[in-house]
Amino acid sequence: TRHLLGIKDLNAADIQLIFETADNFKTVLNRPIKKVPSLRDVTIANIFFENSTRTRLSFELAERRLSADTINFAASSSSVSKGETLIDTVNNILAMKVDMVVMRHPYAGAGIFLSKHVKAQIVNAGDGAHEHPTQALLDAFSIREKLGDVAGKKVVIVGDILHSRVALSNILCLKQLGAEVMVCGPTTLIPKYIGSLGVKVEHNLVKALNWCDVANMLRIQLERQDIKYFPSLREYTMLYGLNKQILDSLDKEIIVMHPGPINRGVEITSDVADSKQSIILDQVENGVAIRMAALFLLAGQNP
Ligand code: CP
Repeated sequence: TRHLLGIKDLNAADIQLIFETADNFKTVLNRPIKKVPSLRDVTIANIFFENSTRTRLSFELAERRLSADTINFAASSSSVSKGETLIDTVNNILAMKVDMVVMRHPYAGAGIFLSKHVKAQIVNAGDGAHEHPTQALLDAFSIREKLGDVAGKKVVIVGDILHSRVALSNILCLKQLGAEVMVCGPTTLIPKYIGSLGVKVEHNLVKALNWCDVANMLRIQLERQDIKYFPSLREYTMLYGLNKQILDSLDKEIIVMHPGPINRGVEITSDVADSKQSIILDQVENGVAIRMAALFLLAGQNP
């Protein structure tokens, strides 16, 4: 595929190729000289219409480690505020001889739309409540690193499934790799179509945690809620918050993940987020190698 718009466009072989390429880049990143010349003839624009810490910085670092030239664009400080359209904005950036665009946007499908209207390779860095493909890849890569394989592993995704691009991309990626996937949360935050994705649904947190090998604790996406949701944050924490007492009461030692940013004390307590069962910072570390792999493989698709 010429673009990376969503996990739905990837098959298991594509994902395994990204993982094997990321394995090589992870070795490079652990060397004293962390740079390779692979993308020295490629220019990449990172355009962010929505805030980001991990994704923006790790794409930028991945590009630099690959020796690409990079430019960064934050919509809030650009001429978008004067009414310039998305297509005009990107075509103006491309006129400066840019090859690839990494874009985060608040609207679902923004990357797909852009890929049909401009002449550049598009990488989706999160589009509204739709997909966040590189997050799902780094999450599955981190499970593979910790447990040896993803196939056959039981992964529960806990929380705001309805508004989460991380949940959808994770489900698609984990299913492609042969994991068993469950979602857990209040009925108000679980979309009705979820059964069609072949995942289990559980509303009781302790039952879900006793079933799984890995729990991915999602943040409540308050910025995507156009109605007051039920339960309230306080009720949510009482019913679905993961604390040390629950973690220690489980039948086995599970792995705890979180895509970030964490709402400490809401979906996860600090003593869990910072515990030895948490691989939250490993996920962030792996994000650079995964994004290097994705950009490297995409650059090879550019005629
Ligand atoms: N996980 C993630 O996408 O974090 P940022 O919003 O900080 O990029």
